Amino acid sequence: MYEDRIDKIIDKYETEKGILIQLLLDIQHEFSWVPKEAIKRISERLKIPCSQIFRVASFYTALSLKPIGRHLVRVCVGTACYVRGAPRILDSVENKLGIKSGETTSDGKFSLETVNCLGCCALGPVIEIDRKYFGKLNSAKLEKILSSCN
Ligand code: FES
Repeated sequence: MYEDRIDKIIDKYETEKGILIQLLLDIQHEFSWVPKEAIKRISERLKIPCSQIFRVASFYTALSLKPIGRHLVRVCVGTACYVRGAPRILDSVENKLGIKSGETTSDGKFSLETVNCLGCCALGPVIEIDRKYFGKLNSAKLEKILSSCN
């Protein structure tokens, strides 16, 4: 079902060597994840074993082999955020969304991940939703932020 879109991306790189990571990043950007169909198609067209593509796609955290929800929630559990209440924030997000880290809600609206630092430790506890950062979080603020996601 994704074949035309996958082929269009492969066409851009077909004659180049060593482009697998960039190609997978483009697939990730197009679909928000790397579907099995894409791995199979890349393997067929570029003559790269599926196992090698799968290994690369599994290694890089920027690539996801599972569908991602429309909103990606990343909760920082790094040391600075941890001591400022990250475990409580993570519990609240998990309870509110009904999923654990690494999962996606059944309606495909939210995916949840934990990360070890978002690079703004002074604002801890911090979460990132759809590449926007929200710091100095408490339950009320978190509730409001999650509710505003359509
Ligand atoms: S530890 Fe959370 S932003 Fe650095």
